[in-house]
Amino acid sequence: MKTRVLTGITTTGTPHLGNYVGAIRPAIRASQQPEVQAFFFLADLHALIKCEDPQRIARSRMEIAATWLAAGLDPERVLFYRQSDIIEIPELSWLLTCVTGKGLMNRAHAYKASVDANREKNLEDDDGINMGLFSYPILMAADILMFNAHKVPVGRDQVQHLEMARDIAQRFNHLYPRSKADWFVLPEAVVDESVATLTGLDGRKMSKSYHNTVPLFEGGTKALKTAVAKIVTDSREPGEPKDAHRSNLLPIFRAFASAEQTQVFIDALVAGMGWGQAKQSLVNVIEQEIAPLREHYDQLMARPDDLEDILQAGAKRAREIATPFMAQLRQAVGIAAPTKSSHVDVGSQAGKAGKAKTGKGPRFVQFRDEQGLFRFKLISQAGLTLCTSLAHQDPKQVGVILRQLELRTSSVTVEEEGATGYLVLIDEQTVAQGPVCGSAAQRDDLLQTTRAAIEELAA
Ligand code: TRP
Repeated sequence: MKTRVLTGITTTGTPHLGNYVGAIRPAIRASQQPEVQAFFFLADLHALIKCEDPQRIARSRMEIAATWLAAGLDPERVLFYRQSDIIEIPELSWLLTCVTGKGLMNRAHAYKASVDANREKNLEDDDGINMGLFSYPILMAADILMFNAHKVPVGRDQVQHLEMARDIAQRFNHLYPRSKADWFVLPEAVVDESVATLTGLDGRKMSKSYHNTVPLFEGGTKALKTAVAKIVTDSREPGEPKDAHRSNLLPIFRAFASAEQTQVFIDALVAGMGWGQAKQSLVNVIEQEIAPLREHYDQLMARPDDLEDILQAGAKRAREIATPFMAQLRQAVGIAAPTKSSHVDVGSQAGKAGKAKTGKGPRFVQFRDEQGLFRFKLISQAGLTLCTSLAHQDPKQVGVILRQLELRTSSVTVEEEGATGYLVLIDEQTVAQGPVCGSAAQRDDLLQTTRAAIEELAA
């Protein structure tokens, strides 16, 4: 199985060099490895926590989408989508909210920092803090757990959120035990130690909240030069030896240069290179990597409809995973509405359709459910629903599964699930589930009938 790598970027502000070096570039590199399935998304629901300006939200979402694509993201390979298009994410977030201790959220750095700032100003602890900020780590856990990501490339400041996501996942797994694998994989933060957080103009972490950023694409070379000119240096004159390792230029230089180039830069500073010249070398080394990408970025920004098409296609693929998984999770916590077909006395519709077709023997019946999604069910000779498939956005997927069941190109098994359920699996992936039975004995009975029916239908 491929390693699932997932990361999100909050869609406020315009991407800066720190975002590029700390998140976008390492994530895109990781996505290009053959053994990786990458999920990259625009965290626009998170953006609402900090920004109430609709135009800025929309503009920045577009800039960020264009940035990732220009930086080399291949939307055919990577699942690239907008968080708000995956309606299952806020739904999962609520399920997770209900298993998360408030005390855990009290400890979140971002929340604590806001409380501390209020105390310093002699305000109430929670002044101006909305519930979005407070529950931020839960929504982030939902982003990650929805797709059972193994690895999450993030900046160092996000490591605590990953620990919380693991805690929350464990808690859910514990409360809702499952007979085979756990519901959620425990995700791991991946922090690129060498370049995890880039320093900004003033030597602190480059961050839009510190107003110390260097723009990535917006504003062109000119804006890049202007920002670099503002990097704080000491007042040593050209000719005087510089303390290269304490310079604010070095961390940025290093992020764009090879080890050799960096050493040359350090040696030149120690030998007395002036700050002006050092800044020029810094601009050059950044431009060498960024200039070709910026050209692509400008093209994408000029065609918003194409960008939207790419995001819609990504959302469709992501929901092919999220929709059936969410259906299982709803069932796990007990809020799934019984689909008509999951009653043992089968709904009249399928019964009729089936009878009209063949009249004898078990059969597969394809149908659309109340949400308009495509499914099939297996009907026994007596007209009982033996199992109902997961929901699919694309009817072709249903066809593919039915062919696998009939032609036996992959291993097909029927296994117990919990005390009174069972699942049909192809290569260990659930494709359909049996009805919730009244007792274990009834389950065993239906499970046997299902196995026999699937055998019979195999060509
Ligand atoms: N909180 C992340 C940040 O500020 C953005 C984010 C939202 C994210 N959801 C995520 C990152 C899920 C990784 C995984 O950078």
